[in-house]
This record gives sequence, structure tokens and C-alpha cells, in this order.
Amino acid sequence: MSEPKLEDIVSLCKRRGFIYQGSEVYGGLSGTWDYGPLGVALKRNILNLWWKTFVEDRDDMYGVDAAILMNQKVWQASGHTDTFTDPLVECSQCHGRFREDKIDTSKCPTCGTKDSFGPAKQFNMMFETTVGPVADETSISYLRPETAQGIFTNFKNIVDSFSPDLPFGIAQQGKAFRNEISPRDFVFRSREFEQMEVEYFVDPDNWEAEFEKWVSDIEAFLETLGLPKDKIHNLEVPEDDRAHYSKRTIDVEFDFPHGRDELLGLAYRTDFDLMNIQNNSGKKMEYRMKDGSKTFVPHVIEPSFGVERAIMAVLTSAYTEDEVNGESRMYLKLPEHLAPVRMAVSPLVKNKPELVAKAREVYEALKKKHGNVMWDDNGNIGKRYRRQDEIGTPECVVIDFQTLEDDTVTIRNRDTTEQTRVAVSDLV
Ligand code: GAP
Repeated sequence: MSEPKLEDIVSLCKRRGFIYQGSEVYGGLSGTWDYGPLGVALKRNILNLWWKTFVEDRDDMYGVDAAILMNQKVWQASGHTDTFTDPLVECSQCHGRFREDKIDTSKCPTCGTKDSFGPAKQFNMMFETTVGPVADETSISYLRPETAQGIFTNFKNIVDSFSPDLPFGIAQQGKAFRNEISPRDFVFRSREFEQMEVEYFVDPDNWEAEFEKWVSDIEAFLETLGLPKDKIHNLEVPEDDRAHYSKRTIDVEFDFPHGRDELLGLAYRTDFDLMNIQNNSGKKMEYRMKDGSKTFVPHVIEPSFGVERAIMAVLTSAYTEDEVNGESRMYLKLPEHLAPVRMAVSPLVKNKPELVAKAREVYEALKKKHGNVMWDDNGNIGKRYRRQDEIGTPECVVIDFQTLEDDTVTIRNRDTTEQTRVAVSDLV
């Protein structure tokens, strides 16, 4: 089977109500995306699975939900105000602006002029705003470019409120904003996106063993997303390419339709962040071991996931084409726990009130059980199956005339297209 192209994924997402261009009616706003009913369901399923895996199912994790707007000192101390930049070049002919490291600068990608780029300028990617009615230097704030800082600034609060044993982690999910020079590849590089991050606080003497545990925890999580192992590649980032705070980074890359690219990152951030906060706020960020053996500023291991990239990887992995009865078909082979719709229920035909009433009864019972069950009586049964295949619904339940006689229904499986008869009592 051939791999899906980026256009296939984009067109499916729009056609079936997963993801639309942001502000589309007004011509769009580059780098922003709106999630439709199925997209938001898929996104929530991924967010919830991540939260359950890394927070609820563990005893060493604490969840937070920090404010997006933070005191400007946060971003000065973290280095973002000075160094969160990308190299920007501008074509002297058409004035097109690009990220220097993403193009061949010998020729403008827009107008084709040769050698039209001067030296790169450093462009800060943070969105700046002002807080309150007076706009001056002191009221400047930023839409956070990462959720991580909202975790670090709550380190002391969590230690004081919960006295956790070390190692322990603080987790956060939420929006992040970056004024990317060239948003591209659908939601892959957006200006507004969502992160799922953990800052895991460790004893510096043990960081290597803890780092390795995270490598395998991430691998296990990616398996629950249904991503095939052969499309995932752990890239050991060389020292020169690592962020200034990192002593070791693994970029977990995935074979996306546009090529192999970063899905998520795992970084050993040392004590860089807590030390910066300690030095700039004057508040101690130390941790005292429960047995009193030592007191120190913990070091940090940071697994950082992007939801949009996870969605793209999930859709790419699930996109499947096959042939059914001599006709080509496309379906999303999503893991059951990620599918936006768990089951679709329909009466075989719409014009028989007794069938519709029975189907409604089964639908209500299944909805009570699973929640994400869809009523679907649009078009003929073949069209319904096709539509449900495209959105990845694992099973379609059909109420037909036999149901009225023996209280059984047909269940049609998305992947095999096989239909089996099941008693309603067993199903519900
Ligand atoms: N706190 C560390 C941090 O933010 P990062 O490598 O800059 O590290 C982490 O970002 C993850 O966030 C990336 O691996 C990616 O999944 C996601 N991400 C970053 N920039 C993004 C963008 N412009 N659009 C979509 N996702 C993005």
C-alpha cells in the first residue's frame, strides 16, 4: 500500500470535519487551525490518553494548569527574551521572508532571483502583548512559547503543598504560541499549538538512569497511539545542535508525509531552569531529601510532546487504502481508544417507523454505555459505511427487519468489513 500524501490528510481533515484553516471565511490566518467535531474528539482522546498514562496512572506525577500570560521576568530569566530566535532572511527583490535554515539561500523560493538575500537577522518568535490599560515597558507580557515555564515556576508550590518524594514530575497540557517565520506542512508547524510536557525532577547523580526510563516510557506511549515502530526514529542530537541548557537531547522523529521530522523531544535540562529562577527571584529552589542526606537544586528531564504532531502521526499511521468488492476504499485504521466515534448506529431504512424506533432505542443504550456513539441515517447503508470508514469508526451497528423478530443486530467491522449478528442484550 502506498503511503498517504500530505494533501490526502489535509483533504480528509477538511472534508470530514477534523481540521479547518483558522479564520477561513476571511481568507484564513496563516499558521492557525480550527478543530471541527471529529478533530476535537481525536485531540481530546490523545490528550486524555497522555494524561492518564503520565499523570493518573503514576504515583510520582503532579498535574498543573498554569496561566498562559506570565510575568515578563519568567521569559527574561529563561533566556527566551534574548535567545528564542530563528534566523530570518529577506529577498531584496520580492521582499519574501524566510527562515534561513529552511531554504537554499542562493535562489529566492518565491521569485527565483539569485543571490537576493543579505545576512540573516535574529527574529524573536514570542508574541508580545501588554497587560492592563497602560502600554509601557513594565506591562509587556508574552503568549507563552512553551508550557514548561509554568511548571518550573510552580516547583516550589508543589514541593510545599505535597512534599513529594524525589524523583517526581510536574505535568501540564495547554496552548503554546510561536510566531513561526514560515508555518508549514499543515498543523506540523503552527503559530498556535498545544503541548503536553513533563518536567521530571531528579537527583543529578541519577539523571542517566532516569533519562533511559523516559526513553522506554515514550516508546510505550507511542505504541498506544498506534504508531508503527519502523516509522519512529530516535535521533541523538549532537552537542552543537542542542539547546544551550541541554546536556543530552533525543529528538523522537517520525516519517511524516512531508518527510522525517521531529515528533517530540526528550531533554536533560540540568538545573538550568530552577537555578535561573533561584538567582532571579531570590527564592530558594532547593529540595531536601527526606532522609536528610542532602539538599540540592534538582536536575530536570523533560519529555515534551506536541499534540498537533501527534495528531498528524496518528492520522498518517491510520490512513489505509484497500479494495472491497473490486472497489477501492479509504479508511482510518485508528486504535479503538482514539477513534472520535466509537460506534455508528443506523436503521437499515429511514422510512419504516418501527425500525427507526428500535434503532433509536439501541442507539440511546449504546450512547449511555460508550458516550461517543453517532446516529447515522444519512444516505444508503453503503454510503454510511464508507463515511464511517473515512472517520475511523471501528463498528457500525445496523437495525434491520430481523431485529424486530429476534432482537439481534448486525455489527460491521471497519477493518475486515465483515458483518456478524449479535443479540442486542449482549451488545448493550
Ligand atoms: N519545553 C521544550 C520545548 O518547548 P521544543 O522542541 O521547542 O521544546 C517541543 O517543542 C514540542 O512542541 C516539539 O517536539 C513539537 O512536538 C511541538 N512544537 C514545537 N513547535 C511547534 C509548532 N510551531 N507547531 C506545532 N508543534 C510544535
